[in-house]
Amino acid sequence: MKIKYTLPIVFFMALVIIEKENNIISRVSDKLKQTPQTSQQPSSLSNDYSEHRGALRRGRKHILLLATTRTGSSFVGEFFNQQGDNMFYLFEPLWHVEKMLTLDTGGTNATAAAKAYRDVLQKLFLCDFSLLETFIDPLPMDHITPALFRRESSSSLCEKSVCSPVVKGVFERYHCKTSRCGPLNLTMASESCLKKEHIAIKSVRVRQLETLRPLAEDPRLDVKFIQLVRDPRAILASRMVAFAAKYKNWKEWAMGGNVPIDDDEVRKLKGNCDNIKMSAEFGLRQPFWLRRRYMLVRYEDIARFPMKKATEMYKFTGIPFTPQVKSWILKNTQASKETSGVYSTQKNSSEQVEKWRFKLPFKIAQVVQRVCGPTMKLFGYKFVSSEEMLTDKSISLIEDKVFSFL
Ligand SMILES: *[C@@H]1O[C@H](CO)[C@@H](O)[C@H](O)[C@H]1NC(C)=O
Ligand SMILES: *[C@@H]1O[C@H](CO)[C@@H](O)[C@H](O)[C@H]1NC(C)=O
Ligand SMILES: *[C@@H]1O[C@H](CO)[C@@H](O)[C@H](O)[C@H]1NC(C)=O
Repeated sequence: MKIKYTLPIVFFMALVIIEKENNIISRVSDKLKQTPQTSQQPSSLSNDYSEHRGALRRGRKHILLLATTRTGSSFVGEFFNQQGDNMFYLFEPLWHVEKMLTLDTGGTNATAAAKAYRDVLQKLFLCDFSLLETFIDPLPMDHITPALFRRESSSSLCEKSVCSPVVKGVFERYHCKTSRCGPLNLTMASESCLKKEHIAIKSVRVRQLETLRPLAEDPRLDVKFIQLVRDPRAILASRMVAFAAKYKNWKEWAMGGNVPIDDDEVRKLKGNCDNIKMSAEFGLRQPFWLRRRYMLVRYEDIARFPMKKATEMYKFTGIPFTPQVKSWILKNTQASKETSGVYSTQKNSSEQVEKWRFKLPFKIAQVVQRVCGPTMKLFGYKFVSSEEMLTDKSISLIEDKVFSFL
């Protein structure tokens, strides 16, 4: 049986190339229930640096890269992480918030989580880690933590000024790769952040752009929201590899078995698509508070035209596009195959864009088209009407689209 061998190989190859998001283990459920109150821990940190805040520093930009998982956001985040010395970049700080607010049911109270996300982001944009600290488990002592999620993914948190001496016997799960650093001193991080010209944060956790309005209206901030989207069929193809066990029934069903596919997963898929669409429509409608503050970017455009899109993104933020970023992009979008690894963002990015078409069974593509149709239409992803069309590389499924404001 040929298919018996082909499938594992196809899935293995897919594993190698998918962009890795941090929350393989994160739960995506939205069940509403009571959440624990966040403690009101007073922090000396906020007092220590209050004199630096209160006024908008001229020209300082606060970039928020908003995405969902498996949209290539780690890769796009690097555009800012690689910017150089005057950018302070944070990779998924809200991971801690979501984790702390996760209920026994596996979900979070969406209302409570949205508020916590917004408040933590607002503080972080002011270089204040005090609120985030209350969500880190174990609670940092004297603003020191060995447990900040994916610290090594923020070059700002591993540079010399934030690198304290190694402490013997302290295990650091997310240790810096470029230098040997001890536990993270968040006071040092905060000081370093205040010295940087700009700050960028990437997050896959915010569900509704609208909930972030107070950030845009904060006179101390100059926030630029970049929403990153991707073809939901490609996202699902990627999820089916990463969470193979969860989608076992889907695969059997797609191959003609009569196992019903999991309603809960279909509902989740629809919920995610609807949220993304709502946020994008909201952004494109340009309410007053979002004027010149919102940009929509498709992953497929970035993968096909990385330099062009990066230039546009930098132009939108009003920050100069540095040679460091340019050379990083060159190096990481034309990479040959041997550099891949599951955590790698390095790959021949044009080649990646269409790979899902050979992995996702047509029947499942149809399910996505049914529940995510309006979202796909908004972003210009063409529907496929047959297996042949799905796997015919001469037919592009990406419409040329300029996102003018609605
Ligand atoms: C969710 O949290 C909000 C705000 O904390 C609270 O008012 C609401 O009752 C919670 N909802 C549920 C279903 O527990
Ligand atoms: C953390 O950094 C701050 C600022 O540099 C320093 O004053 C403090 O002593 C450091 N904490 C520890 C435990 O080293
Ligand atoms: C990347 O993939 C594209 C599309 O298949 C191909 O044209 C190009 O030559 C590849 N580039 C490299 C450096 O492998």
